[in-house]
Amino acid sequence: MPVLRSRAASGRPIWIIVLVSLVCFSLIVAYIYPPQSYSNCYFFASSVCSPFKDWLPPINPRVLTDEEIASRVVFKDILSMPLAKVNIPKVAFLFLTPGSLPFEKLWEKFFEGHEGKYSIYVHASREKSVHISPIFIGRDIRSAKVVWGKISMVDAEKRLLANALQDIDNQQFVLLSDSCIPLHSFDYVYNYLMLTNVSFIDCFEDPGPLGTGRYSTHMMPEVEENSFRKGAQWFSVKRQHALLILADNLYYTKFKLYCKPGMEGRNCYADEHYLPTLFYMIDPAGIANWSVTHVDWSEGKWHPKAYQAKDVTYELLKNITSIDENYHVTSDEKKVEQIKPCLWNGERRPCYLFARKFYPETLKKLLHLLPIYTEL
Ligand SMILES: *[C@@H]1O[C@H](CO)[C@@H](O)[C@H](O)[C@H]1NC(C)=O
Ligand SMILES: *[C@@H]1O[C@H](CO)[C@@H](O)[C@H](O)[C@H]1NC(C)=O
Ligand SMILES: *[C@@H]1O[C@H](CO)[C@@H](O)[C@H](O)[C@H]1NC(C)=O
Repeated sequence: MPVLRSRAASGRPIWIIVLVSLVCFSLIVAYIYPPQSYSNCYFFASSVCSPFKDWLPPINPRVLTDEEIASRVVFKDILSMPLAKVNIPKVAFLFLTPGSLPFEKLWEKFFEGHEGKYSIYVHASREKSVHISPIFIGRDIRSAKVVWGKISMVDAEKRLLANALQDIDNQQFVLLSDSCIPLHSFDYVYNYLMLTNVSFIDCFEDPGPLGTGRYSTHMMPEVEENSFRKGAQWFSVKRQHALLILADNLYYTKFKLYCKPGMEGRNCYADEHYLPTLFYMIDPAGIANWSVTHVDWSEGKWHPKAYQAKDVTYELLKNITSIDENYHVTSDEKKVEQIKPCLWNGERRPCYLFARKFYPETLKKLLHLLPIYTEL
């Protein structure tokens, strides 16, 4: 028997040995020089590639800092936290405004008959706001100066969240500006926000100068360039996410120090990058990636289109309320357009609940049109 076995071994064709050595060699090479990205599977057909990638050890697993470990464990608990049961959950409307709100009368009409299902907070950053509607009286929070594009903008958002979180009934938190108007009836807005468990935070990857071009390597190691995201400031967040924003100090400090106007000769605006990047890193599946506040950038100027009284028609409002896909375009020379359907709990629905920017002069027309267009 031993004789037979050894004869069979020596008789094994040479190609098996060559093949085995080749496989071993390529595995060693793959181990020492791991590919930068597994999506680039040059050597293997994709079917071979996917099991293969699971087999390899992870590439350069970074050792987390103490602060990162602490942050992640806090975030994880907040995200999985069940909310306190309340009789009637409320939506908190957070108005971030320089002074008086031109559309108080419009909002009053919007809120009418829905007492107990909403709460209002006003952060007037430049001058004391004068209220003409009773539902806004006494709703001002202690405020501080806000400089456009600076971290003080994020600080004001956090101040509004902190005040609104004090009321345990508040479960959704919508940030609005003085130029915002409602696009639907209160019930529609309430159900849209309440019956889903994602937050509406705008978030996309812009490799151009107005996106990743604003990134600073000083944010390393916690914020890597490929995690840097962009999105509009106007969010709507669920209670756990509002708490998470207040709990975060690590990433907030990175943006405070290294994302500001004039940083390394570029202008980085924390209010356009901090929350999109934070949530992309911490809870990407928990955000819708679009904002429920519409704005029209199609004119391609530095500021979005601002509507005057002559622009405000039933047709315009109908157009905005019927949009059911969100649009992003990169700021590099390729100007890549990303158009995605707005999926609400997997169902295609209109994207927007609010719209900006409307001049105060549009009030009269809006008051007339509100009952008509919100019944769409
Ligand atoms: C909420 O999240 C859970 C998972 O955490 C998911 O199973 C459920 O479908 C979500 N509900 C809605 C209404 O999206
Ligand atoms: C938002 O985008 C992230 C990727 O950035 C994705 O993982 C997530 O599923 C998206 N959210 C929804 C609700 O589709
Ligand atoms: C409404 O949308 C239609 C079709 O996209 C467009 O032709 C029209 O100019 C829009 N009207 C307004 C007032 O925006």
